[in-house]
Amino acid sequence: MSPLLDVSGLTKRYGGVTANADIVFDVNEGEIVGIIGPNGAGKSTLFDLITGFQQPDGGRVLLDGHDITGLRPDRISRLGVARTFQKLKPFIDLTVTENVIVGALAHTSDMKTARDRALESLAFVDLLEKRNNFARELSTGQRKRLELARALAMSPRLILMDEVTGGVDQRSIVGLIALVLELKQRGVTVVMIEHNMQVIMRLADRILALHAGRPIAFGAPEQVRSEPAVVDAYLGTVTDAA
Ligand SMILES: Nc1ncnc2c1ncn2[C@@H]1O[C@H](COP(=O)(O)OP(=O)(O)OP(=O)(O)O)[C@@H](O)[C@H]1O
Ligand SMILES: [Mg+2]
Repeated sequence: MSPLLDVSGLTKRYGGVTANADIVFDVNEGEIVGIIGPNGAGKSTLFDLITGFQQPDGGRVLLDGHDITGLRPDRISRLGVARTFQKLKPFIDLTVTENVIVGALAHTSDMKTARDRALESLAFVDLLEKRNNFARELSTGQRKRLELARALAMSPRLILMDEVTGGVDQRSIVGLIALVLELKQRGVTVVMIEHNMQVIMRLADRILALHAGRPIAFGAPEQVRSEPAVVDAYLGTVTDAA
């Protein structure tokens, strides 16, 4: 069986910065794959390249064996790949429901279907009670959930989540973990960038560790965590930063 997502040799330079250097990893259908690495390691860039928001300087991305490298973001999303953004930019003057409908409308032009899908996603992330609030009234944790709902309203088979637990209180983190497991139960494949080691060790089937744009380990969580390069590069800086 070929992997759902197959990334090889992905490379991206911004001026003198090599944000991604020859990244190789794959994701099987139904798997949860974690991506870790210190600030600036290239994690979000990797999502930008996979989802078409940036063009790679080299390498390729296969989805279900089909080459999707460099396709436009809307085409990739229509192939069933959704993502959340690390930098949250909800439409603050729209309601919560309207924000999610915008996401759903990427996949259907039928307003009723879009609204139904939006409400379903909001229920899934436990934000239904805020559906008529303006997005600007939401806390950080609630905005993260809104961002997740927006992505889920596209009914993806693969979702890329960029630090959904960042800046979220401990109680909400427990809810987010349950949510990711529920997604897996429903057959959605998940790739998640995550700074919280406890969360990622608990959830991931496999972990890719990046450092300065390069892949330094890829495998089972315990194996990656004990990799000397990871301990040096990642755990060291996280402890320093904490
Ligand atoms: N659009 C861009 N233009 C110029 N440089 C960029 C751009 N996106 C990323 N970079 C640079 O590429 C490198 C990797 O950035 P990236 O955002 O991918 O890291 P990250 O691992 O997601 O970091 P963080 O944990 O802080 O989110 C950084 O040096 C960053 O400044
Ligand atoms: Mg990032």
